[in-house]
Amino acid sequence: MLFRPLTERATLHPLEPWQAAEFAALVDRARPHLAPWLPWARSITDQASAHEFLQRYADAQARDTGRIYGLRLDGNLVGGTLFRVFNAVSGVCEIGVWLAPEAEGQGLITRAVEAMIDWAVHERGMSRIEWLTVPANHRSQAVARRLGMRRDGVLRQAFPLGGERYDVEVWSLLAAEWRGVATPSKATT
Ligand SMILES: CC(C)(COP(=O)(O)OP(=O)(O)OC[C@H]1O[C@@H](n2cnc3c(N)ncnc32)[C@H](O)[C@@H]1OP(=O)(O)O)[C@@H](O)C(=O)NCCC(=O)NCCS
Repeated sequence: MLFRPLTERATLHPLEPWQAAEFAALVDRARPHLAPWLPWARSITDQASAHEFLQRYADAQARDTGRIYGLRLDGNLVGGTLFRVFNAVSGVCEIGVWLAPEAEGQGLITRAVEAMIDWAVHERGMSRIEWLTVPANHRSQAVARRLGMRRDGVLRQAFPLGGERYDVEVWSLLAAEWRGVATPSKATT
């Protein structure tokens, strides 16, 4: 289980269904910032829908197929991270992230994802960490780049959101690259 101090003021901890009201309040206040990129920032509109979302991750965690974490700054929930996909059989997982605007620009997500990758690679023996983003999401790409990920390629119009379809960039990091025993494999860009 991952519970990690990230800085003197920030922690990463499991986010559970009983915290649905707090999660719903965060989504509500950060919605304009999150909704352009995250489908659930549109569908979580109250405590019940937040609970359903967190329960799905609690069930996934029980099956070892997904996990969700909250990020606190001075005790307040300001963001989070998740293993949207966690396949211990194939050794592949996918990480997703979000922050309220006031918590951006401090390296909190980079630190949180470093902790997740450490856990996935060193404790769980995962081989490949994936990161999916739309081409217009430059802050998301900057995090992936900062973590040493490389862009594998583009899934054309793979992501439906708000009645439109968007290309999806797939970024990845291999366990050997994280351990520093291999240089990043050749990327498309
Ligand atoms: C994507 C998102 C989480 C990135 O947040 P972020 O604040 O840029 O990322 P980090 O927390 O890693 O912070 C990085 C910033 O902190 C700075 N920083 C300060 N100290 C740092 C440190 N020790 N380590 C790394 N970065 C540090 C970096 O320079 C960078 O600042 P910059 O944006 O001015 O270049 C955020 O923009 C967000 O929630 N967006 C909306 C939802 C979203 O798009 N989710 C992803 C969908 S794919």
